Amino acid sequence: MRKYKKILFLTGAGISAESGISTFRSENGLWNNHRVEDVATIEAYYKNQDYVHDFYNNMRPDLWNSKPNDAHLAITKLQQNYDGEVYIVTQNIDTLHEKAKNKNIYHIHGQINQIVCMNCGNIYETWGDVTSESICCNCNLMGTLKPNIVFFGEYPLYMDKIENLLRICDLFISVGTSGVVYPAAGFVQTAKYYGVDTIEINLEPTSNNLYFDKHIVGKAGVELPRLVEALLKNND
Ligand code: APR
Repeated sequence: MRKYKKILFLTGAGISAESGISTFRSENGLWNNHRVEDVATIEAYYKNQDYVHDFYNNMRPDLWNSKPNDAHLAITKLQQNYDGEVYIVTQNIDTLHEKAKNKNIYHIHGQINQIVCMNCGNIYETWGDVTSESICCNCNLMGTLKPNIVFFGEYPLYMDKIENLLRICDLFISVGTSGVVYPAAGFVQTAKYYGVDTIEINLEPTSNNLYFDKHIVGKAGVELPRLVEALLKNND
């Protein structure tokens, strides 16, 4: 394990699984109990706004109450003690990285506690329910509010910043993502193109496994703290 200057994490639903938050594609995953087309596309939002709002309204209380696990806390320990920069790109809409006091977080798919007005673009934080009758506090229009979550067919956030991070980092660590949704699924290939060392932590090898130099098979809450200890040991 060599000494790295800039470490970039990509996290997916698997890092939050041990906090009790369902992933998307496991047996009882979110996408097994709902059709993506009905709750996570812009067409669904315009076709049946309140059905989409209900899906995210129902999700908010559990995410509000959820607690970060040892994997999130291991990243905090690394950020606080490592003599290098540590960045996090997360596909997750939960706020467990923030709750764990992680820094340098980029939510590529948005956040459950943010709402955006499709009329004026105003973004604000809320953990409460939103409906088609909610009024934008900025432009005072009704029926223009949408969860600030990137739906399928919409463009992911922070892409310019992420492209730059993939170029300048020297270690890329993927934690708890199935690697099937682009552009995030392609980040490891970009990192490899730039000669970055790549590590994957997952319960099982994923479809991207050719691009990872090292596979750590196991739970994020167990394996990420171990990896952080190894990185800190090589920190002097
Ligand atoms: N530790 C490590 N990995 C885990 C754990 C765990 N405790 N539990 C599950 N995993 C792994 C699974 O093996 C799987 O590879 O986490 C991954 C979760 O995959 P998905 O459910 O597909 O979630 P994710 O990769 O984050 O999905 C990406 O797809 O639907 C969209 O916008 C949504 O951000 C999401 C994106």
